[in-house]
Amino acid sequence: MSQETKAALASLDELRDWTRKSLAGASDPAAVANIKAALFGRKAGKVNDLMKLLASLPNEEKKTFGQAVNTLKDELTAMIDAAAGALDAAARDAALRSRAVDITLPGRRMHDGHPHPLTDTLETLTGIFSRMGFHVRTGPHIEFEKYNFDLLNIAADHPARDMHDTFWMWDGVVLRTHTSPVQIRAMLKEKPPLRIIAPGAVFRCDHDATHSPMFHQVEGLLVDRHVTFADLKGTLGVFARECFGAATAVRFRASYFPFTEPSAEMDIQCVNCGGRGCNVCKQTGWLEILGCGMVHPNVLRSCDIDPDRYTGFAFGMGVERITMLRFGVNDLRLFFDNDLRMLRQF
Ligand code: DAH
Repeated sequence: MSQETKAALASLDELRDWTRKSLAGASDPAAVANIKAALFGRKAGKVNDLMKLLASLPNEEKKTFGQAVNTLKDELTAMIDAAAGALDAAARDAALRSRAVDITLPGRRMHDGHPHPLTDTLETLTGIFSRMGFHVRTGPHIEFEKYNFDLLNIAADHPARDMHDTFWMWDGVVLRTHTSPVQIRAMLKEKPPLRIIAPGAVFRCDHDATHSPMFHQVEGLLVDRHVTFADLKGTLGVFARECFGAATAVRFRASYFPFTEPSAEMDIQCVNCGGRGCNVCKQTGWLEILGCGMVHPNVLRSCDIDPDRYTGFAFGMGVERITMLRFGVNDLRLFFDNDLRMLRQF
């Protein structure tokens, strides 16, 4: 082989080395592109320059050199592609790392909505009586004085009116002070046998830790033939055990309401201390839970029901008070503050 061809072939090795070193130092795709241009550029490309050597070689050795150049071209192209691919992969890795998400972080919690504790109690109470065959009835918040008082045997000069701290809308119309007028509406519209439960908001001009100007009651009324005080005691005993637990003891104390005769108040054994005495029951072991009694003959008569044919019992209870006892809440105002820290506890 001629000296010229040996030298020409040696320059191929030099070019390979140069390319390897240059690519090793290339730190971004632009640098790789520059190296590619330096090798294969149409005008000043180092590979094209090699072909100029061809003219100086003996004819019989031109083929050998030409083949060596072609092999080198393939090699160089492969080296450039590998370098560019490695830089791409590194760039992609870096991009992914910079946007990395820590999948061990706790997720953001969704807070489930749920009924307000008062709504929960209202639904529990109406549910218990519904299962005993009582039908839900409602009445207006703005009520006739006649339904709120007169027809319930509370005459205009009756001292019981003073106990109600009434909001007067205008002459003869009040914000209802209790749910008892729903009894009247039911008896005027539907005839016995009657079994109704009336949940709803009521209003009194009073505001402190145990009184709110707007609060809720559940009223019950049952009118039929031969209804006795024993039916009242049995029904309300079942209610107490359903609401506060199967072991709940109840007692009835004589009381007074203008619309019932006889009247009573029902106590349950203290849900906090089980009857031993604590500050919730003021050391008595008992909690007053509702008012009740046999519907007064005057009330039946004022609704066109003959008290000689029909008798009935009625009861009324405060929903806020029962909710406070069910959940151990000690200030009624907490129910109306809409403080999520309070409401999320239920
Ligand atoms: N309406 C009474 C009140 O607001 C509660 C009540 C007591 C209702 C006895 C009744 C009843 O139906 O029989 O204080």
